[in-house]
Amino acid sequence: MGLLRSDRAAAVKNHSVCCISCGEVNAALAVDFRCARCGDLLEVQFANWSAGAAPDPGELKAVWCERRTSNQPLDASGVWRFREMLPGLDEWSSAITLREGNTPLYDLPQCARSAGVERLRAKHQGMNPTGSFKDTGMTVAISFARQNKFRWVACASTGNTSASMAAYAARGGMRSLVVVPDGKIAWGKLSQSFDYGALTCQLGTDFDGCVRVLDDIIRRYPIYLLNSVNPYRLEGQKTAAIELLEQLDWQVPHHVIVPGGNLGNNSALGKAFVEMKRLGLVHSLPKVSVIQAEGANPLYRTVHERQGKELVSVEADTLATAIRIGNPASWKKSLRVLNTTGGCVEQVSEAEIAVAKAEIGADGVGCEPASAVTLAGLKKMVRTGFVRATDSVVLVLTGHVLKDPEYTIKFHRGDLSVPRMADEKFRALTVQQRKTPVVLDANPDAVLRAIEAEDKRDG
Ligand code: F0G
Repeated sequence: MGLLRSDRAAAVKNHSVCCISCGEVNAALAVDFRCARCGDLLEVQFANWSAGAAPDPGELKAVWCERRTSNQPLDASGVWRFREMLPGLDEWSSAITLREGNTPLYDLPQCARSAGVERLRAKHQGMNPTGSFKDTGMTVAISFARQNKFRWVACASTGNTSASMAAYAARGGMRSLVVVPDGKIAWGKLSQSFDYGALTCQLGTDFDGCVRVLDDIIRRYPIYLLNSVNPYRLEGQKTAAIELLEQLDWQVPHHVIVPGGNLGNNSALGKAFVEMKRLGLVHSLPKVSVIQAEGANPLYRTVHERQGKELVSVEADTLATAIRIGNPASWKKSLRVLNTTGGCVEQVSEAEIAVAKAEIGADGVGCEPASAVTLAGLKKMVRTGFVRATDSVVLVLTGHVLKDPEYTIKFHRGDLSVPRMADEKFRALTVQQRKTPVVLDANPDAVLRAIEAEDKRDG
């Protein structure tokens, strides 16, 4: 298949990078991606959409659909397929892609019943090449890193960003530096970083401490920062929202529920929904809500204790290690999404997370602990009346179940210890969801008795 109409011209600079607070256009980007004038975060803007050059929504839908049958690497990517809504590279063909995106939208019938809604769906971003949603942003940002001739890229991470960055750096022939909190990231994620060849530094601090160390390094060595303060990351992550609406035949759901850590992802998805409305692809917005773990709840506290006026940083602790973050970079962007879309922020306990994770597993889908906060949060939002039983709801599952097998094994064995709750209480609250493994002699009768016992329990 040849290139489609909108590809014929080489990609041109179709965007500017502006400050979210003072509006300053940052023509040259600082190494920390902060505004040169006021130091706040930057975002990509597409000014020419307003200048009468906005793409036609019907044509966009048709082109994106047509690309699904193409074998061109750029079209086969569920990110670059939507390139009309992405910042343009000098050459589209220089994109570093692993065929990211194209993730499934699953029905979760049992979870719907337990949450009290008629229908519940999950957009499973854990089905990306390295097992998390980070790939959708990484493909875009790392392509800009290579375009800008960087040899080294780096990130501080709770494990998924680093796994993703290491993979894309390897594909792009670049070196990567991973800075992670020692002992606080899941084995699956750490192992990926090794295998993809990153220089992996495990520091005796938490994620927020890793961010501070890296902030110093990027000023002393030519390294391209790939944390979500990098606005190009969020541009790629937008595409999950576009793909979701395409999968829903452009019917906008009432609610989209996202886990909140450093708060880049909900900001990206919210930006995408707003931009799709601006382009006329849809005519309404879903309410985008954020769920945090009780032990890592800075956004929740910022909204409930300070009405969003200033960030309440916390000392984070949760077994959902992906979102063990106390000082989130993108809190202002995230608040803007809550306000624009009418979403809310909830917090959930370690027991609620564990139960929700097992329930998502029992629907045959599975996810890592941080993703399960979405179902736990939904249950609360149904109880408070924020979500009605007839509302259409989509959970964004961010990481694959195999990212953190240690959590899952310990949970089912009954020896998971969570922060801020006695082991006995935790076990009592989660007993129904635990599938305790059975260790038996190598004897068919013993196995048959185990089957009969299950049948009896099932009734
Ligand atoms: N879910 C998973 C599985 C994650 O890995 C993360 C973040 C989040 C949710 C939260 O997303 O930060 O955009 O609000 N992980 C980062 C990392 C911090 O380093 O892998 P967010």
